[in-house]
Amino acid sequence: MSTVGKPIKSKAAVLYGFNQPLKIEEIEVAPPKAFEIRIKIFASGIAETDDLALSDDMASLNFPVILGSEGAGIVESIGEGVTKVKPGDHVIALCGPMCMKCKSCLHEDSNFCVNNDVGKNKGLMLDKTTRFSINGKQIHNFMSCSTFTEYTCVDEFACVKIDPKANLDEVSLIGYGFSSGYGTVLNTAKVKPGTTCVVFGLGAIGMSAVMGCKVAGASRIIGVDINPTKFSRAKELGCTDCLNPNDSDKPIHEVIVEMTEGGADYGFECIGKVDVMESMILSTQCSYGSANIIGVPKSTDRLVVDVMWLLTGRSLQGAFLGDFKAPLQFPGLVQDAIHAKKFDLSKLVTCKLPFEKINEGFDLMRQGKCIRTVLIMDK
Ligand SMILES: NC(=O)c1ccc[n+]([C@@H]2O[C@H](COP(=O)([O-])OP(=O)(O)OC[C@H]3O[C@@H](n4cnc5c(N)ncnc54)[C@H](O)[C@@H]3O)[C@@H](O)[C@H]2O)c1
Repeated sequence: MSTVGKPIKSKAAVLYGFNQPLKIEEIEVAPPKAFEIRIKIFASGIAETDDLALSDDMASLNFPVILGSEGAGIVESIGEGVTKVKPGDHVIALCGPMCMKCKSCLHEDSNFCVNNDVGKNKGLMLDKTTRFSINGKQIHNFMSCSTFTEYTCVDEFACVKIDPKANLDEVSLIGYGFSSGYGTVLNTAKVKPGTTCVVFGLGAIGMSAVMGCKVAGASRIIGVDINPTKFSRAKELGCTDCLNPNDSDKPIHEVIVEMTEGGADYGFECIGKVDVMESMILSTQCSYGSANIIGVPKSTDRLVVDVMWLLTGRSLQGAFLGDFKAPLQFPGLVQDAIHAKKFDLSKLVTCKLPFEKINEGFDLMRQGKCIRTVLIMDK
C-alpha cells in the first residue's frame, strides 16, 4: 500500500538527554511538505561527532533529538516543488547542505552555508518545525539530516542524488567522515606529489586523510595514534610510518621534526584535541608547513597559538566537510569510488551492525575497536 502523503511509522534511535543510551522507539514521520524529501535510510555510519553531541561536548542540543550525520538511502516521497530528486532515487542525506543562494554558498572557496545547522543545533527544518514525533510530541533533528532512523525527512537542499550502482553501506561515509578527511587533503591543503604528510588520529577521518595523501602522490605519510591496533590498516592505506606517542620519551612533534629533517610539509589533526593540534602544528616545517585542523574539540576548549609559529611562514587552517560543495561534488566523489576506484571505502567500514545495536556501535567506537561502524536498516 502506498505511503505517499501519509505519516509513516519508523524505528528511530531517540536521545532524551545528554550521556544517556539511545532509545529505539517507534516514531511517526510526517509526509514531506513543499520542498522537502522523505528518505528511507538504508545505512548510517556512527560518527565521533554524534558522540560529541551525545556527551554534551558540542553547543547545546534540543531534546528529544534523533542524531545521525552520515547516511544513505532511497527517496520514498517528495513534497510539492521538489525538482532535484524523485521517488526511487538513491541519495546521500547531507549534514552539510548548501542553499546555493547565500554569500557563503556563492563564494567559490566556501562550502559552509549560512542556513546549515552546524554548531547552531536548533534541530529544526527550514520552516522551524520537524516531521518527527512520538505520541504527538515533536522530536528534533540533527545537522539537517538525522540518519539514525528508518525514515527521515529533510529539506531539499539536504539531499543529493547519487549513482544507483553505489553500495549504500559504503557511500554513506561520503556524507560526512570520508569526505572530511579526504577533502581536507585534496581541496584545503592541496597536497603536492612527492611531499611528506603527517596525520594525527587514525579513525575514519584520519584514515580518509591518509587515502587522500596517497591519491595526491605524497611520498611519505606518517600516521600517529595512541592505539597501535590501527597501524596495520593505516599501512595498507598508504602510511609509510606509524608512530605511537606513548612509545616516545620526547614530545611526538620533536620525533617527527627529526625524522623529516625539519618538519613535514603538511599536517592534519583528525582527533579533536587541542594539545594534539598544537603538536600537529609544530610537526610541520616552520617556514612553509601547512597545518590543517579537521577534529572538532569540546565547545569549551581553546587552541592557544604562539604567533611566532605562523610568522615564520607556516599556514594554519581548518575545514568543514573537506571543503567539498556537497550537492555539487558528492555525485562525482561516488563515481571516483565505484568507477574510477580511486579509493576503497570498504577498508573504512570495519563493522556492520543491525540498527537496533546502535549503542553497541557507539561502544565499539569509544573503545577504539573499529574504524567505522555502519548501521544497517531493515530493507
Ligand atoms: N571538520 C569536519 O568536517 C569533521 C567531519 C567529521 C568528523 N570530524 C571530527 O574528526 C575527529 C575524528 O573523527 P573520527 O570519527 O575519525 O574519530 P575516531 O574516534 O574514530 O578516531 C580518533 C582516533 O584518534 C586517536 N587518538 C585519540 N587521542 C589521541 C592522541 N592523544 N594522540 C594520538 N591519537 C589519538 C584514537 O585512538 C582514534 O584512532 C572528531 O573530532 C570528529 O568530530 C570533523
